[in-house]
Amino acid sequence: MAIQRPKGTQDLLPGTVEQWQYLEETIRKVCRDYGYEEIRTPIFEATELFQRGVGQTTDIVKKEMYTFLDKGDRSMTLRPEGTASVCRAYVEDKLYGQSQPVKLYYSGPMFRYERPQSGRFRQFHQFGVEVLGADQPIVDAEVICLVWDLYQRLGLKGLEVHLNSVGCPTCRAAHREQLQRFLTTRKSELCQDCQERYERNPLRILDCKNPNCQAVTEGAPTTLDTLCDDCRSHFEKVLSLLSGAGVAYRVDPRLVRGLDYYTKTAFEVMVEEIGAQSAICGGGRYDGLVEEIGGPATPGIGFAMGLERVLAALQVQGKFPDPKPKLFAMLIALGDKAQNEGFTMMNALRGKGVPVRMDLLGRSLKAQLKAANREGAEFALILGEEELERQVLLLRDLNSGEQTEVPLSKAIEVIYMKHRRGV
Ligand code: HAM
Repeated sequence: MAIQRPKGTQDLLPGTVEQWQYLEETIRKVCRDYGYEEIRTPIFEATELFQRGVGQTTDIVKKEMYTFLDKGDRSMTLRPEGTASVCRAYVEDKLYGQSQPVKLYYSGPMFRYERPQSGRFRQFHQFGVEVLGADQPIVDAEVICLVWDLYQRLGLKGLEVHLNSVGCPTCRAAHREQLQRFLTTRKSELCQDCQERYERNPLRILDCKNPNCQAVTEGAPTTLDTLCDDCRSHFEKVLSLLSGAGVAYRVDPRLVRGLDYYTKTAFEVMVEEIGAQSAICGGGRYDGLVEEIGGPATPGIGFAMGLERVLAALQVQGKFPDPKPKLFAMLIALGDKAQNEGFTMMNALRGKGVPVRMDLLGRSLKAQLKAANREGAEFALILGEEELERQVLLLRDLNSGEQTEVPLSKAIEVIYMKHRRGV
């Protein structure tokens, strides 16, 4: 039986890859404009990084990690997300010694053992941004504006930023107490996972997708109810900056992200048209994470977006630009000698940056002309035995059908100039 790719993964074939490249190029441009620099971290890390960083009680760490022992008996994990790795690099590579804040972005595959469905994969791709070393609310606003601006440049419509503040360790303790008190009499109605969460991390009960748990938590106190003065004024300032920037947001007091490191601002961007997995981006502030993994106390904030989901939204909304023709000229050489001469000419033109191709299948003149048209070539450069004898090249304009003769000695220069002029 033929071997198949693993469940929840995709082959990205030519035709689709161009859409990825378009998205990745737009991302790079926005990051450059905002002054973010790229970081590339390993695809696998010590398992402990995610256990400590993402949190022992999260679904990611409990159920979804691709963990294995390497040949040296070390526990390794394919990265399920990028934030913990960026913070590890910030500490290990001493980026805290550079001028702050450090503004980084990354793009690459992530791995989670989830139940595959539309918009949910086991190998998926994230573009993410992390800003380390700045605690001001203007940073939160800038990061959200970057996401918003990217989606505007891509032409996406119908988006909404859902925003919440999950507070800091001080006000979270007050919330925890109030929430446990609220749930105390109905604890037995919660699902098994939430009964465990009740002791270890009750906030995550608000995020449970089980309809029973959602019914039990209706009217439960939210983190917004217990914010301390510092967290409240931080949140209000973020909201006022976003309003000024024209970002369409909605305060959602029940937004609880699925990772444990968040403090203060948490957000997600939703687009309804792509189905149940409507979150195309998620992020927030994580002021305790760098310290948690052994670095100096450092505030941080960032987000990550699922590229598969952004591409699905672009697809549904018909927002991909028309593909640009990739071929300038097809060099059609007929006969052995002409093929030798043509091959030299093609390589000289390619060396000058002119996209030229030759037939690789030994096809007839007619079939080669057909292929040139199909691939959107501007010109056919025809070189037969007879042209070779007369030391000329036929230059056929495939748009107008007009055909001229160029002396072989001048052909490279003439074609090069036409390409430069965009003819
Ligand atoms: P996350 O919410 O787990 O956050 O993932 C961010 C985004 O990645 C989601 O909104 C979704 O678009 C995409 N995503 C997640 N899982 C899958 C999957 N199985 N298949 C397809 N797409 C998926 C984080 O990962 C945080 N590290 C974000 C962050 C950065 N927070 C602060 N800085």
